[in-house]
Amino acid sequence: MTHSTAHEAAPLDASQDVRVRFPQDRTCPYHPPAGYAPLREQRPLARVTLYDGRPVWLVTGHATARALLADPRLSADRTRPDFPMLNARIATVRRRRRFPLLGVDDPEHRTQRRMLLAHFTLKRATALRPRIQETVDRLLDRMAAAGSPVDLVSAYALPLPSTVICALLGVPYADHEFFEEQSRRLLRGPAAADVEDARDRLDAYLGALIDRKREEPGEGILDELVAERLESGEIDREDLVSLSVLLLIAGHETTANMLSLGTFTLLRNPARLAELRADPGLVPAAVEELLRFLSIVDGLTRVATEDVEAAGETIRAGEGVVFSNAVVNRDADAFPGGDSLDWHRSARGHLAFGFGIHQCLGQNLARAELEIALRSLLERFPGLRLAAPPEEIPHKPGDTIQGMVELPVAW
Ligand code: HEM
Repeated sequence: MTHSTAHEAAPLDASQDVRVRFPQDRTCPYHPPAGYAPLREQRPLARVTLYDGRPVWLVTGHATARALLADPRLSADRTRPDFPMLNARIATVRRRRRFPLLGVDDPEHRTQRRMLLAHFTLKRATALRPRIQETVDRLLDRMAAAGSPVDLVSAYALPLPSTVICALLGVPYADHEFFEEQSRRLLRGPAAADVEDARDRLDAYLGALIDRKREEPGEGILDELVAERLESGEIDREDLVSLSVLLLIAGHETTANMLSLGTFTLLRNPARLAELRADPGLVPAAVEELLRFLSIVDGLTRVATEDVEAAGETIRAGEGVVFSNAVVNRDADAFPGGDSLDWHRSARGHLAFGFGIHQCLGQNLARAELEIALRSLLERFPGLRLAAPPEEIPHKPGDTIQGMVELPVAW
């Protein structure tokens, strides 16, 4: 197979020979798909074909990714007709709905983000640590009482972030089965109808919750947004509902996947695990390195609103730009030897949380949860091991957030 290089590329059009598909399923859950090998040689910009046959730019180099993610000429507005979509399910839903925060550009984005910033500072995340630890201890007690083997996803990786984000937002955790299931359907289908229906149900659920909070304010970020921003007209009900859906889903799915895939990765890399057990002080560095190495959110999407010069190429107005975090975060110029896990490297600067105006709002919270959850899990179960052959443990398909579907463990 011949792969055209970025230097033969501009302008990008559908008639050109762009054969590598994006996204693809991972072969090993913690490495970029084997099918991306040609893309890893085409740094910093490659071209790929999306599910609908559309060719787009794929950013594969770290410096170029940072520059382009900070470039206001690339838009995150999913309602633009030429916005690239990574699968048919998402395309059906996103084109029709407003998508606050993650799907809007400045200056609107800045206004929306300012409403939330105070709730997601490092100080807030630090203050939450004792509560996170309590939840972790309770879940680990329950796991120990249930006895080995257990599914770590349903016993630990999912309930932890789900409990934390519920408490933060003011969503009743008693409803977790409902919203976890809708979140799964929203992100993974299998059909477009699932995505539509899941989104409708989440909108209806959070809409009703917001209406209730108008009558009976409680304690939580949503209560504060209702009291301070909705009543003043700064945000309308529809946008507040969409924003709540985003916070609820982003707040639990991502961290849950990091925990399940992170644990799987540690159990498959015994030397690194032993190092961590011997020196728990390495846990914060290990969390950062796992974020880089696993890049569970792979495939950030944007569309150029003007011609943009990047890495000697011209990205034309209307062309789609996709960022492969999994490839970018292993760029040897930024992370020498990036294909191996190393707790002693400086992993900061990875783009696992994105970069630029949309950089993850929940990153301080995610780091706090991951550090506490991993340290406590390892302390509590010194003999933790996989309870099934690794190749039989299902992981998530390539067109959604990466993680384990289930993770049978024993101790
Ligand atoms: C390990 C866990 C997490 C990972 C890997 C992750 C990853 C990301 C990435 C890559 C983006 C940027 C998307 C883009 O630019 O297109 C993002 C944005 C965002 N994340 Fe996270 N995230 C995590 C946890 C969380 C948590 C716990 C929350 C809690 C609420 C959260 C809320 C958000 C929000 C609201 C945005 C949109 C920000 C904006 O557009 O201004 N994330 N996240």
